[in-house]
Amino acid sequence: MSETIIHAWGLAARPQGLPRPEDFTLVRLAAPPLAKGEVRVRNTCLTVSPAMRVRMSAETRGYLPPYGLGEPIAAAAVGEVIESRAPDLPEGAAVLHQLGCRDIAQGPATAFERLPDAGPPPELFLSELGSTGFTAYSGLVGIADCEAGETLFVSGAAGSVGSAAVQIGKALGLRVIGSAGGPAKCQLVRSLGADAALDYKSPGGLLEKLAAAAPEGLDIYLDNVGGEHLDAALGVANPHARFAISGMISSYNMEQVTETFHNLNRIVTRRIRIEGYLPGTDLASLRPAFQDQMWSWIVSGAVKPLNTVRRGLGTIPQAISDLFAGAAVGKLLIRL
Ligand SMILES: NC(=O)c1ccc[n+]([C@@H]2O[C@H](COP(=O)([O-])OP(=O)(O)OC[C@H]3O[C@@H](n4cnc5c(N)ncnc54)[C@H](OP(=O)(O)O)[C@@H]3O)[C@@H](O)[C@H]2O)c1
Repeated sequence: MSETIIHAWGLAARPQGLPRPEDFTLVRLAAPPLAKGEVRVRNTCLTVSPAMRVRMSAETRGYLPPYGLGEPIAAAAVGEVIESRAPDLPEGAAVLHQLGCRDIAQGPATAFERLPDAGPPPELFLSELGSTGFTAYSGLVGIADCEAGETLFVSGAAGSVGSAAVQIGKALGLRVIGSAGGPAKCQLVRSLGADAALDYKSPGGLLEKLAAAAPEGLDIYLDNVGGEHLDAALGVANPHARFAISGMISSYNMEQVTETFHNLNRIVTRRIRIEGYLPGTDLASLRPAFQDQMWSWIVSGAVKPLNTVRRGLGTIPQAISDLFAGAAVGKLLIRL
């Protein structure tokens, strides 16, 4: 039998600021024969996400260790089992795993989650039915305890978590305001159902734009961006507002965080509750209810999956760079 060669993207150099395609290198690995209990998977689709940038730095800045130089980088992917020595994952099974940025993945069956044979297509488990949708849902339901009629502000609203949060917020009966970079993205955010969208890149202060979009103030903030967005949200928050902090992408490319806050005193005077969360570990008990609810929203059309699709393993370095340059909307998927 001919040897299986795995093609995987590795880190050639640690990015300084925005990741560039030259920071990545294609690694060729000979796949060892499967041991008992292992499977080999051909990836069909994978995704890149902002959290990967945090792992490209030398020091541990996030909750996962840095990528090693020259070693394959990990990301979420779905694929099909093509060889199996594990009875629970037969050939042909669709699986989800975190070993992405490669064409072939293999390892113990426990590293792979079996996906349903019928119903939602596997790719949806990389976006709305996966950690993207779950981050939006669990932030609104599990962290912010949102109630119909309240006002929600979502930053990064044309992105993957953000676009899901806008649509979930509307499905839950909230008034929704989203921020995004540029008029086309703001138009997209409105087309997802947002009551108002603000362009954080247009001239003028973010606090003033947000105050104009939310004259009644904010009850809930789903923060994907941090920095000036978080400061503006503090500035217009109502008493007892709840802030669910999923991430802070505005600082991910900074070697040293130099952001300035002017409205921190509002945390006290408005009794604001601010909570960061890692949905996969902190809110895992909500996942079954989330997947049922999200799938029914997708089937009914209340939530429309939003993706930017690239094709081929070779597009990955540019896709990682594009994520931070705002060149995509919704979830950035790479189909192989
Ligand atoms: N806690 C968790 O488990 C978890 C899970 C998933 C994601 N997250 C977090 O959620 C956030 C969004 O992630 P995502 O996967 O949904 O990414 P994404 O929104 O699909 O992609 C990133 C988007 O962020 C915006 N952006 C980039 N730099 C920015 C800046 N300096 N200021 C404002 N906006 C900026 C860009 O949109 P514009 O063109 O509009 O600027 C870009 O399209 C990240 O902070 C991520 O770490 C957390």
